[in-house]
Amino acid sequence: MSSFYSESTFLALIILSVVLAAIAALLFGIKRHLTSMNQEKLGVEDEPSFYASKIKPVIDGWNPTIATLAIAGILLVVLGAFGYKFGMDEVGAQQGYAPTQPINFSHKIHAGQYEIDCKYCHSTVEKSKSASIPSLNTCMNCHKYVKADEKYNGKTSPEIQKIYNAIGFDGDNMEYIKDYKQKPIEWVRIHNLPDLAYFNHSQHVVVGKVECQTCHGPIQEMDKVEQFSTLQMGWCIDCHKERGIDSENNNYYEEVHKNMQAEGKDYITVAENGGLECSKCHY
Ligand code: HEC
Ligand code: HEC
Ligand code: HEC
Ligand code: HEC
Ligand code: HEC
Repeated sequence: MSSFYSESTFLALIILSVVLAAIAALLFGIKRHLTSMNQEKLGVEDEPSFYASKIKPVIDGWNPTIATLAIAGILLVVLGAFGYKFGMDEVGAQQGYAPTQPINFSHKIHAGQYEIDCKYCHSTVEKSKSASIPSLNTCMNCHKYVKADEKYNGKTSPEIQKIYNAIGFDGDNMEYIKDYKQKPIEWVRIHNLPDLAYFNHSQHVVVGKVECQTCHGPIQEMDKVEQFSTLQMGWCIDCHKERGIDSENNNYYEEVHKNMQAEGKDYITVAENGGLECSKCHY
């Protein structure tokens, strides 16, 4: 969705520029035509225009290949600068996005009230790029027994019943239904970087020791998850300029640490370690 937004905005800009350029050319052409018509009527001899006398000789002197490359180069730089600015603070703005989920799952109950560790459910967050959403088997570790039925006059909570219906569990007889065709719950994805950007959870959570809440906000207080940060490029960069890397207690940074000591520094930011290089976040 965010990449659709950025692509469409970008495309709109390009189309707008082309249209404006075409209108400008058209107006210029009309003006020239009117001028020459006027001069014909008055019988004035067509004086060589500014273009013919000053600009045309210069252009004629250009090597067409080099001129084409130069124009293409300028266009590329202008478009790149536009794109860069968009990445910094325009596209992907979905801060506050809080879609309704197929099951009314509450982090306030699970992570807040019952203090279940984030990693119990988002079990890959320390090992891999993505944090992952738990499978219904993880829910069933508790909800095979926890039916919240006191609230519903002894009947299983309708929200928990949705888990049973998806996975094929008969709550009354406490057994899984044989040969049941499972229907996975389709959680609506909230955070979503465009494909062109690379983000790795384990690098931030384990190596960088950044708390979930720094990026995701007070999730343990949310009944419904909402996107807390902008996830824009400027957000990534701002933190990289501020945060230090833990070079002392990390084999990976042994070399960096030695160099720092040689320079008499005891703190180095992610940025100073190369965290602003385009290729670190863009393939
Ligand atoms: C009992 C399991 C469970 C626990 C514990 C849990 N989560 Fe979740 N989390 C989920 C499920 C299920 C979803 C998908 C539904 C939703 O968005 O509410 C989710 C969604 C999320 C999302 C949004 C994912 C997206 O689509 O972008 C974030 C961020 C998140 N959790 C962070 C946390 C953090 C931080 C903690 C600890 C404070 C935590 N979670 C604890 C189960 C859990
Ligand atoms: C570690 C145990 C545990 C896990 C794992 C767990 N839950 Fe829960 N859940 C609870 C407890 C405890 C309650 C509160 C029950 C009550 O209010 O009586 C609860 C409440 C709920 C409720 C509210 C029910 C209602 O109507 O009030 C829903 C919905 C729910 N859980 C869904 C899920 C889903 C979906 C998952 C898996 C992503 C999950 N839970 C994983 C322990 C767990
Ligand atoms: C440095 C910022 C940062 C930290 C720290 C962080 N996240 Fe994320 N999280 C993100 C970004 C950015 C995304 C979107 C990733 C994407 O779309 O590729 C995301 C996405 C998610 C998702 C959606 C599913 C996925 O894997 O993409 C979940 C769930 C999640 N984070 C949970 C957590 C939990 C739990 C923690 C703490 C253990 C945590 N995050 C720490 C920035 C962070
Ligand atoms: C709240 C702070 C914070 C935010 C926000 C953040 N990062 Fe980072 N990032 C860090 C820290 C700390 C490290 C250093 C981890 C380490 O020691 O290697 C890091 C390292 C990285 C690295 C590895 C850099 C290298 O030199 O190897 C990449 C790539 C990266 N982050 C991408 C991102 C992207 C993409 C985003 C935005 C979607 C982002 N980060 C947002 C704190 C942050
Ligand atoms: C720390 C990570 C990080 C670094 C370093 C970084 N970027 Fe980005 N960049 C991102 C993220 C994340 C996005 C997506 C932002 C969004 O969708 O809101 C992005 C988006 C962009 C876009 C916009 C693409 C679009 O969707 O239209 C351009 C262009 C871009 N970056 C260029 C650069 C250039 C050039 C550099 C080096 C000078 C650079 N980036 C360095 C993280 C980074």
